[in-house]
Amino acid sequence: MNFFLETLKVLILSIYYNLEAFVKLFIPARRKSVSGETVLITGAGSGIGRLMALEFATKNVTLVLWDISQEGNKETAHLVKEKGASSVHTYICDCSKKPEVYRVADQVKREVGDVTILINNAGIVTGKKFMDAPDSLVEKTMEVNALAHFWTYKAFLPAMMASNHGHLVSIASSAGLIGVNGLADYCASKFAAVGFAESVALELLAKGKDGIKTTIVCPFFINTGMFDGCNSKWPRLIPILDPTYVAKKVVDAILTDQVYLLLPKSLYFMMALKNIVPTKLGLVLGEYFGAFNFMDSFKGREKKE
Ligand SMILES: *[C@@H]1O[C@H](CO)[C@@H](O)[C@H](O)[C@H]1NC(C)=O
Repeated sequence: MNFFLETLKVLILSIYYNLEAFVKLFIPARRKSVSGETVLITGAGSGIGRLMALEFATKNVTLVLWDISQEGNKETAHLVKEKGASSVHTYICDCSKKPEVYRVADQVKREVGDVTILINNAGIVTGKKFMDAPDSLVEKTMEVNALAHFWTYKAFLPAMMASNHGHLVSIASSAGLIGVNGLADYCASKFAAVGFAESVALELLAKGKDGIKTTIVCPFFINTGMFDGCNSKWPRLIPILDPTYVAKKVVDAILTDQVYLLLPKSLYFMMALKNIVPTKLGLVLGEYFGAFNFMDSFKGREKKE
């Protein structure tokens, strides 16, 4: 194709897709059926992992719940069964350990079958200034929040590719799009998760595997206990999110094959701003929106063990 034709094609498509996106603002998106799918959720024992499991409980799926805590996971299983789920399988898995991820993944394939909707949700936060964070916790943060995604893809993607059917969901964070004072290792791990999920999605498209859908979720901080003590400076503009709301939005994004989900909506605007304003103004805005002091009053989740 020559330069002129190809440029013309891009111009026409850019008009077409903008119009399409505009029209779609007014038409409710079609929701796909997930009946019969096998949904794996890591970190299902608490927080939005548990709440997403509850959202799926009424959708006739097979649920595979992973968590490091047997107690939390059993409780989630109990709650989803109460809500109507008939097929629920729980596994203890420490996602920071590659051999354990592979071992439990093999067990799932043997005992339950191929996973068709993979939700990488398990996450941890150190919540210390980088130089105060012990190496072991920095490493664990990378292992759980980023590396575990590599290993679960390696384990479950081949079957999805063979049937050109499935859905990969990465529960990342707004901290995967913009740096935050006091969250260096966490941000690094979430940037990694976003970059990884986005790149594999492109690999799949390039291979023509368009039956495997992808969703990358970047919420602002969620009121699950993980970031207890932290406050939003302007809660009306950038609220600390309600976990049930987030879980509902994530499952809805999966059902509508939405590729990116940023929450709250104001984040789309913030992310655009970040990349176009002068650096000095960016710092002023960061200060104004409370990004610099967000972690000052961090307490985090009470340790159970
Ligand atoms: C639920 O899923 C099973 C497959 O796992 C399927 O055979 C069955 O028809 C489904 N039920 C409904 C009500 O869709």
